[in-house]
Amino acid sequence: MKGSFETNSVEETWNLAREFAKELRPGTVVCLEGDLGAGKTTFTQGLASAMGVRGRVTSPTFCIVQEHEGDGGGLLVHMDLYRLHGEDDVLAIGWEDYLARGAVLVVEWPERAGSLIPPDARHVEMRHVSEESRIVHIDTRPDSVV
Ligand SMILES: Nc1ncnc2c1ncn2[C@@H]1O[C@H](COP(=O)(O)OP(=O)(O)OP(=O)(O)O)[C@@H](O)[C@H]1O
Ligand SMILES: [Mg+2]
Repeated sequence: MKGSFETNSVEETWNLAREFAKELRPGTVVCLEGDLGAGKTTFTQGLASAMGVRGRVTSPTFCIVQEHEGDGGGLLVHMDLYRLHGEDDVLAIGWEDYLARGAVLVVEWPERAGSLIPPDARHVEMRHVSEESRIVHIDTRPDSVV
């Protein structure tokens, strides 16, 4: 899937994420962008649910990286790179190990990872529209939307 999708509730964002999750493979990097409260964690919860993760998915803001194991043996790794300073920092938290383990890597503040982001990474950008509505851009830049 690719394009811009409007969701009008948390449930709709979860459902969109679950649909998107069908395309994820071990080693897929998902760059996740959006302002505070845009719904990044909510979207990640939908991915986690699709992968059969039982534990609670919260923002990795304070711990930088959170690992969630799915009941089918898949691994969802959720990173917030905001407080890292560059590729060396990103490597130091185990970037390559996670990919080698076949994790799905959901990355907030992906610009910190520079050239470590593979060319086939997926891009999800969330925009706040109103209290209950969000626009979710999947592999499309918001300014390229007509
Ligand atoms: N359509 C929607 N999709 C997602 N979240 C929604 C929607 N409508 C309302 N919300 C609310 O918006 C908030 C989204 O918060 P969430 O933690 O997912 O954002 P975030 O982008 O991770 O923020 P932060 O940068 O603070 O971590 C939640 O309180 C959620 O209930
Ligand atoms: Mg969050």
